[in-house]
Amino acid sequence: MADGPSDANRRRPTAVADLSEAGSLEALRAEASDCRRCPLWAPATQTVFGEGPAAAPVMFVGEQPGDQEDLAGRPFVGPAGHVFDRALDEAGIDRLQAYVTNAVKHFKFEPRGKRRMHQKPGGGEIQACRWWLDREIGLVEPRLIVAMGATAAQAIFGKPMPIGKNRGRLIDLAGGTQALVTVHPSYLLRLPDPAAKAAEYGRFVDDLRLARRFFEAA
Ligand code: URA
Repeated sequence: MADGPSDANRRRPTAVADLSEAGSLEALRAEASDCRRCPLWAPATQTVFGEGPAAAPVMFVGEQPGDQEDLAGRPFVGPAGHVFDRALDEAGIDRLQAYVTNAVKHFKFEPRGKRRMHQKPGGGEIQACRWWLDREIGLVEPRLIVAMGATAAQAIFGKPMPIGKNRGRLIDLAGGTQALVTVHPSYLLRLPDPAAKAAEYGRFVDDLRLARRFFEAA
């Protein structure tokens, strides 16, 4: 999808985007490709914007692009994306019918030798990037927003939301939209115990089955 930023773009001085008048996801994506709203843009390859139909009934929100997403310019195409795809499949959801995005749209990492180690985005970065997420929500107007993991939940609710306490139930948001909190797929990848991993994966698929209803009723 999107190519990496040109050298000219990389050298462009910091500029906060003007208030967006973007009337379509494509226009918004184009604006976001130049985002300088926080410092994460500088070492990243490119903005990884959301993707999916503008009329998607369900929006899935992750944390931030990982190494592979940063290179590909698409959300959830790396290892966590493979878990997400498999779980969607098992829940009976066609990913192409959903809008998939992240709370933070640049990869935050720490270079270690040749590797780029994921770093959790901070509150300031989540807040800065909400500007884009709010506009994606405004354009897509999903009936359900699925927040996968603590960063996504914080972005959607504007405050920390413990996942264990809130997962798996529908929560009303303003304007008739509902939210569903669940774990992040990379959490499942990190669980060392195979039995716990299988059980948690099953709960994740159950949460997605709840989301499936919103496609059926669309
Ligand atoms: N993790 C995320 O939260 N989002 C991605 O796009 C990839 C990994």
